[in-house]
Amino acid sequence: MAPSSNYTLIALLVAFAVVAPSLQHQSAAARDGGVAKLVTAPAPSANGEVVVLHPTASYEIPDLPLPRIIPCPPLFPKIPFIPCYNVAPPPPPPPPRPKECWTTLVKSLVPPCSGFLTNNGGACESEAPSRKCCDGVKLFLSGDRSVYDPLCLCHVMNGDVSQLLPAAVNHTCALALVQACLDGVNPQPFSDLCNNDQSIKDEMPPMDLPEPPPPATGNTA
Ligand SMILES: *[C@@H]1O[C@H](CO)[C@@H](O)[C@H](O)[C@H]1NC(C)=O
Repeated sequence: MAPSSNYTLIALLVAFAVVAPSLQHQSAAARDGGVAKLVTAPAPSANGEVVVLHPTASYEIPDLPLPRIIPCPPLFPKIPFIPCYNVAPPPPPPPPRPKECWTTLVKSLVPPCSGFLTNNGGACESEAPSRKCCDGVKLFLSGDRSVYDPLCLCHVMNGDVSQLLPAAVNHTCALALVQACLDGVNPQPFSDLCNNDQSIKDEMPPMDLPEPPPPATGNTA
């Protein structure tokens, strides 16, 4: 026998030694109930039908007794004989949060709520905030989280939003706004959190992005 076919034979033997136990396992299963079928099935049955046998047990290639040091390929079939460990897919990254509140406040909240927040003409004493205003407020809780941040409402509670309004925010009206638009929210604790809770203050996006540093000029006089 030529040396190369020797190697082929050895490889085949190793493969068989590994596969054989599972084959025995399968035939044992067949003996348990299917043996009569196996013996009689290949013959054509009385009415001329040919019964075709399909292996019913799912066939698994066992792993070689090696340590599981490589991760299982996630998208491809497992490599035969090579043990691998399952890798949990990494959790999806949290959606990016908005970096400032100015854009969404100007777009959705300030235009319809301006009169109510400043108590213009006694608006917040006598009336409920308009439907449009409340829809704008609600967007901060239920809108796209990568665009609307609930903590941007803190800028309404702490008065920062005044810089976008024709007059200063009336804090009583800001509380009334939150209470009227967000059913079930107790406005005072919410306001207290916005104004006093350091972790909330750290987390809330600023009104504006910080000014970019002025471009360096080459020739300073
Ligand atoms: C704020 O609005 C309330 C009524 O909601 C009013 O009584 C109060 O005088 C207003 N405050 C200011 C400073 O305008």
